[in-house]
Amino acid sequence: MYASVLALLFPYSICFLCFSFSNSEWKWKLNDLLSLGLHRSWKRMCISWSGAKKGDRALDLCCGSGDLTFLLSQKVGLQGEVRLLAASSELHFLCHLEWIEGDALNLPFPDCYFDAITMGYGLRNLVDRQKALREIFRVLKPGSKVSILDFNKSTSNLVNTAQEWMLDKVVVPVASNYGLSQEYEYLKGSIAEFLTGKELESLVDEIGFSKARHYEIGGGFMGNLMATK
Ligand SMILES: C[S@@+](CC[C@H](N)C(=O)[O-])C[C@H]1O[C@@H](n2cnc3c(N)ncnc32)[C@H](O)[C@@H]1O
Repeated sequence: MYASVLALLFPYSICFLCFSFSNSEWKWKLNDLLSLGLHRSWKRMCISWSGAKKGDRALDLCCGSGDLTFLLSQKVGLQGEVRLLAASSELHFLCHLEWIEGDALNLPFPDCYFDAITMGYGLRNLVDRQKALREIFRVLKPGSKVSILDFNKSTSNLVNTAQEWMLDKVVVPVASNYGLSQEYEYLKGSIAEFLTGKELESLVDEIGFSKARHYEIGGGFMGNLMATK
């Protein structure tokens, strides 16, 4: 039903969904639909907070379908280089970048190696977030930044209620229509088990980052942690 309502309101988005996509491509298009395209701006903000610039060596962790990686590669340009790391291969493009299958908890890179690191919708799902952040700290050059985009665990009851309503009544039902309910059903529980912005700031502080700032975006539904080594 929600898909039909959205189809009436946003016919072009729905048309886009009607082509034949692979599972991760479906997810990508579904994210466009469910966020009304806003996830693209959040990802641009995430890249901008990473401080990545022309000629940098950058890393995108938990890269998934690679849309953050693609934006990162535009930032560093042809003089720069981008490594992208995920637990399994989901990419169907971006073959000019170096894709590495690996574990974010045990990064296969030397100390002080990267000028900028990004991670989108990855930290919340990792079994040991502190270890992942310690690894990021280790491979970042001093003075460089990590920018981490994810769902926000808000401290506001109003935002939490609205976020839960969106997930229960819109996101999961729409995803179910495309056979992707499992991929979205876990979100509510994983956000509840995630850390608030303040807790994330304290965690990176403890690890040794010199500056940490968590920004609430998307009406408080999303958050972006930025930390400088
Ligand atoms: C929800 S997707 C994020 C996709 C993408 N970054 C985005 O913003 O749309 C989560 C990604 O984390 C990866 N992942 C999960 N556990 C991981 C681990 N321990 N090490 C590296 N990547 C991991 C998965 O393979 C998947 O690519």
